[in-house]
Amino acid sequence: MKRFGVSLEEELLEELDGLVKKNKLPNRSQAIRYLIRKSVTTEQWETNQVVSGCVVLVYDHHKRDLLTKAVNIQHDYQNIVLSSQHVHLDHDNCIETIILKGKARDLKELADRLIGLKGIKHGQLVMSTTG
Ligand code: NI
Repeated sequence: MKRFGVSLEEELLEELDGLVKKNKLPNRSQAIRYLIRKSVTTEQWETNQVVSGCVVLVYDHHKRDLLTKAVNIQHDYQNIVLSSQHVHLDHDNCIETIILKGKARDLKELADRLIGLKGIKHGQLVMSTTG
């Protein structure tokens, strides 16, 4: 761990402290780490680098058609799908997490196709870095 001094205008410092409070971070250092990582991740996704991510889907498993479609789509992208986990939430609902690694554009494309399926109650792509 290396230490360095940071000079900030009063207004920016208040913004930083607001971020610490809002995200329940332990201190300003953690807030700066958080911002740097977020910036690096955004940059990687915007420049179509190899990234990792996760798609979360919640749906009614009685809609058989939906399940078949979701599986077919995943087979079209089998080179970027690392694993998937299916959990039965209750009588009707299932949650599925699909872990991905590959070019950012492909991950986004796959996520959009899955989340856009009719019958998906909730869908979200979580963007991460490769490291
Ligand atoms: Ni299920």
